[in-house]
Amino acid sequence: MVCLGNICRSPLAEGILQKKLKEYGLDQQVTVDSCGTNGLHDGEHPDPRTLENARQNKVYIDKLVSRQFIPIDLWDFDRVYCMDSSNYANVMAAVTKEEHKEKVSMILNESRPGSNMDVPDPYYGGEDGFQTVFDLLDEACTVIADGLK
Ligand code: 4NP
Repeated sequence: MVCLGNICRSPLAEGILQKKLKEYGLDQQVTVDSCGTNGLHDGEHPDPRTLENARQNKVYIDKLVSRQFIPIDLWDFDRVYCMDSSNYANVMAAVTKEEHKEKVSMILNESRPGSNMDVPDPYYGGEDGFQTVFDLLDEACTVIADGLK
């Protein structure tokens, strides 16, 4: 799961997918991780507003720690879900092996195929933005988890 700072959208996506995989008994078989393209928040826990929203939705991601995306992620993971078109462009720019391009996608295309919709960045917005982000990610992660099942 990739966003910009790895403190709002992608840690939430990681937590939501992890929770669904656990419900399906698949959490030991699938590794879910998240990162950010800018590294500005390296070493930080998720944004307090993200943590509050996650808790309200019974997703517990307090212990996650922000890290920057590294090109090796394209080798280590089978799928790379980007939160917005800017993250997507940055990850695609790091591809060195042609077939890795197929691993990279916009996460909302899972639930809304072909839409190329961004998960809106809630960082500079109000509290409402966080629930919108949660609902969009929950929808997409349901499709991802069902597919893995
Ligand atoms: P995220 O949100 O990419 O969903 O984690 C942001 C977090 C931090 C910043 C921007 C977006 N920032 O500019 O510091």
